[in-house]
Amino acid sequence: MATLHVMRGLPGSGKTQAAKEWVAQNPEHRARINRDDLRQMMHDGRYIPKVTEPQIVAVRNISIITMLRKGFDVISDDSNITHVGLRDLARIAFRSGVGWEVHDFTHVPVEECLRRDAERERPVGAPIIWKLYHQLQNAPDGPLPSPADFAQADRHPEQDRGLSVPSPTT
Ligand SMILES: Nc1ncnc2c1ncn2[C@@H]1O[C@H](COP(=O)(O)OP(=O)(O)OP(=O)(O)O)[C@@H](O)[C@H]1O
Ligand SMILES: [Mg+2]
Repeated sequence: MATLHVMRGLPGSGKTQAAKEWVAQNPEHRARINRDDLRQMMHDGRYIPKVTEPQIVAVRNISIITMLRKGFDVISDDSNITHVGLRDLARIAFRSGVGWEVHDFTHVPVEECLRRDAERERPVGAPIIWKLYHQLQNAPDGPLPSPADFAQADRHPEQDRGLSVPSPTT
């Protein structure tokens, strides 16, 4: 069974590096799908919430769904700090009937993330890292969203965020 692997962690915590290494170990069966890279391709890297981001999320979702449908393992190395993003991915895993694994990088200290980020060619920058750090501190207690949350019923189809599973393609 295919598995959707999702990552969680601040910018600079090492998600992309780890995801690339994991894919490179078995490129025949694994692939990485990443919002930052899609944003670079679709909108030259510009982040415009509620304007271009829904397009990027739609392409991310349809890409993940299609790959899982075809039996590939997928890793999403987006930061997934908020539970909203994780819920979207968990719902995709539930609707696709695949496995689910969370790789949590939130243990990497923010100071280390800041240090690594500053050395990058294209740094995210300290203000954004601190903002996400505070979001992380304020994240709800309790378990992270998981596909089991959707086992009862998909109660809010009207809030579908481009998550519907398309017909299988050849
Ligand atoms: N375990 C590690 N030890 C030291 N440096 C690392 C480690 N993992 C990643 N790095 C370096 O830290 C920088 C950030 O790593 P990476 O791009 O994987 O972070 P990220 O979590 O994907 O960040 P973002 O959320 O901004 O995409 C890179 O330059 C990478 O080479
Ligand atoms: Mg990354």
